[in-house]
Amino acid sequence: MSVVAKRILVTGGAGFLGSHLCERLLAQGDDVLCVDNYFTGRKDNVAHLLGDLHFEAMRHDITHPLFVEVDEIYNLACPASPIHYQFDPVQTTKTSVIGAINMLGLAKRLKAKIFQASTSEIYGDPNVHPQSETYRGNVNTIGPRACYDEGKRCAETLFFDYFRQHRLRIRVARIFNTYGPRMHPNDGRVVSNFIVQALKGAPITLYGDGSQTRAFCFVDDLIEGFLRLMAAPDEVTGPINLGNPHETSVAELAELVLSLTGSRSSITRRPLPIDDPVQRCPDIGQASTMLGWHPTTPLQEGLKHTIAYFDKLLTERGAIEDSALLVTP
Ligand SMILES: NC(=O)c1ccc[n+]([C@@H]2O[C@H](COP(=O)([O-])OP(=O)(O)OC[C@H]3O[C@@H](n4cnc5c(N)ncnc54)[C@H](O)[C@@H]3O)[C@@H](O)[C@H]2O)c1
Repeated sequence: MSVVAKRILVTGGAGFLGSHLCERLLAQGDDVLCVDNYFTGRKDNVAHLLGDLHFEAMRHDITHPLFVEVDEIYNLACPASPIHYQFDPVQTTKTSVIGAINMLGLAKRLKAKIFQASTSEIYGDPNVHPQSETYRGNVNTIGPRACYDEGKRCAETLFFDYFRQHRLRIRVARIFNTYGPRMHPNDGRVVSNFIVQALKGAPITLYGDGSQTRAFCFVDDLIEGFLRLMAAPDEVTGPINLGNPHETSVAELAELVLSLTGSRSSITRRPLPIDDPVQRCPDIGQASTMLGWHPTTPLQEGLKHTIAYFDKLLTERGAIEDSALLVTP
């Protein structure tokens, strides 16, 4: 429990990660202002918080300046899955770059501490494993993923320039694959794809031979990392990797989802999408030493919670459009 309630702005607060963060901040006694343009976020994600006097939701696009009074800012606004960030790539870059400039400008005016949700995508298709924060990445600047990857890289640059030039208190987290309840059911990401396909008894789409690995972090673990980073001494600026270093192949994940859902779905194979990294795994040495943080939720347990969420969603909403299941993870 915080001693003094802080006023905290969460951009992208109605999204998957943002809604969990809003919940945790409220639970520790903070006042939360959730700002979102509802591009990929959903009002449903925060509907249960609206009755709380310490919670406020505001429709706003962070590519436009925002004038509010807060003590801390978590900048999460940005579509995170390829299908969504490639839908309007120019807007994606604007959200990352102009959005960062607007939020950093706000933090500067308010002398507020500001957190940036950066991403493992800034490492691109990495040629070192696992990726530590010193690795500078291998990003294709003109590929279809660049609007996101380069946007996020530029946002990091802006954060560190504001830190050096204006002595802003910054925190930059490089987030690796995270999953859990409130993931978007049609986001084309591997965990949500597999679960929705398995629950519907539809064929599970495996891209490539399935040997590409991912390291999946459960959302509650990740949010704990956010809070620890924000609470760390000001010299702990990051960038700091937050993710689960335990690697699982995509084929293994498919088998696990099939067994946990009891589904009889078959597995169909498709070619690997362009620039899809074959391996991605965080080195979380810094998070462990500086924040005492490491993920604690086993994949099987996290998947059970996620499956329960999607099961309920499918029952409530009926069929989720099949077309969305055809997109790449
Ligand atoms: N989930 C992951 O595995 C993961 C991995 C790496 C990085 N991240 C980063 O974490 C953040 C949150 O990701 P998420 O998984 O919750 O995605 P999400 O799509 O569920 O949430 C993003 C939220 O931002 C909102 N948004 C988008 N553009 C906006 C704009 N211009 N103005 C205001 N709101 C806007 C969306 O409506 C949505 O609610 C993103 O910045 C993402 O890049 C997520």
